Amino acid sequence: MSKETTIVSQQLSTKEGAFTAEFEWPVTLAIDKGLDGAVTNKSKVGYVDGDKGRLIYQGYPVETLAENANYEEVAYLLIFGKLPNEAEYAEFDSKLKAQRKMPIEVVKIMDIIYDHKHSHPMSLLRTAVSVLGVLQKNVMDTSRENELRMGMHLIASMPTVIAALHRLRLGLKPVEPDITLSHVENFLYMLHGKKPAALDVKLLEISMILHADHGMNASTLTAMATSASLSDLYSSIVGAIGSLKGPLHGGANEVVLQEFLKIKSIAHVTEYVAGKVAKKEKIMGFGHRIYKTYDPRAAVMKKYASKLKEEVEMFKIAEVLDKEVVAKYGSKGIYPNVDFYSGIIYKHLGFETNFFTTIFAAARISGWLARILEYRAENRIFRPRDVYIGEFNKEFVERKKRV
Ligand SMILES: CC(C)(COP(=O)(O)OP(=O)(O)OC[C@H]1O[C@@H](n2cnc3c(N)ncnc32)[C@H](O)[C@@H]1OP(=O)(O)O)[C@@H](O)C(=O)NCCC(=O)NCCS
Repeated sequence: MSKETTIVSQQLSTKEGAFTAEFEWPVTLAIDKGLDGAVTNKSKVGYVDGDKGRLIYQGYPVETLAENANYEEVAYLLIFGKLPNEAEYAEFDSKLKAQRKMPIEVVKIMDIIYDHKHSHPMSLLRTAVSVLGVLQKNVMDTSRENELRMGMHLIASMPTVIAALHRLRLGLKPVEPDITLSHVENFLYMLHGKKPAALDVKLLEISMILHADHGMNASTLTAMATSASLSDLYSSIVGAIGSLKGPLHGGANEVVLQEFLKIKSIAHVTEYVAGKVAKKEKIMGFGHRIYKTYDPRAAVMKKYASKLKEEVEMFKIAEVLDKEVVAKYGSKGIYPNVDFYSGIIYKHLGFETNFFTTIFAAARISGWLARILEYRAENRIFRPRDVYIGEFNKEFVERKKRV
């Protein structure tokens, strides 16, 4: 029985207020705060094994995919349930490439509303996706064919939006997509205006694969709950981006890097951890609702982050912090999560800190899409309940007589 269940039972069993009349006593209600333990649907898309620290996409361990596949193959796998053969890959890839370009209206709107000091890139990305949806035709057609078309449009165009925002922020002109390049190569090319180094392509490829899907997390649930009312895909993804932005979810990667910068050197890590423990504050980049052991994605990220010579000082801070927090909280099941090492890689790739979560969104779009399409086949609107703990039959008092 959860803590919340006990509290509610106590409140109700005091027989205070009008509840006395409404319920037969005793009343026991369970509240699963944060829908902890709730099971919404069946899925073949992916599996998060929190005890063993495993993540599976359509049957394949994520580490195998990260080492051997590219992002396009993984997106295809999540959506269609199999790795593409040559012909399937060529068709999927050419459809994505054809949709990379961003409509001029989006660039203009972003340029007008972009307040370089205050606009968060995730808010701009959310707005840009919304505008892309306004410019699309037939968005309310929820057939698989149409939702797949729109979803592939988003997979293809989100990197273009993010790279353009990055360049507008620096006062530079957006770079047109290059269809001779792969999805990830092109992302980095549009960001910096030059062909990326092979190591950088590998780093972003791995990161985007590791972030492509992750069970019924907050943003996926948001996307699915929006979509399940038979709303359009763009609205679902706008909601998902809003959810992902929060620091308890995707936004943690940004905060983690800010914390590394505050810590400054490994000499201050112990003091930092002690301060957090004393103030009972969470340490960002640690902990997970499902993983009670090392997040497998964090392990891969750590391996690649450790290779970056330019980021060695920051990596050292991360590694010591990792050890100290696990020593303190490992017995409670608190270990580094995917957001702990990813920022070191994104910094190396030339992304500004407040852009980190946009990369997560550009990767997770394929998981959001795969799960929306899967759920459509047996669609049912989401409608959980809450427990009313207010009063009944209050007397209405005219405004001028109210105290
Ligand atoms: C991910 C997260 C939101 C999961 O939340 P949750 O499943 O609702 O877990 P709770 O917040 O209820 O935490 C459960 C317990 O672990 C502790 N805990 C969880 N994350 C912690 C962290 N990062 N640092 C220290 N303690 C933590 C809580 O204080 C709580 O302890 P208590 O039972 O003694 O009160 C949570 O671990 C967190 O906030 N982490 C930091 C943000 C982050 O890195 N997010 C990215 C996730 S990929």
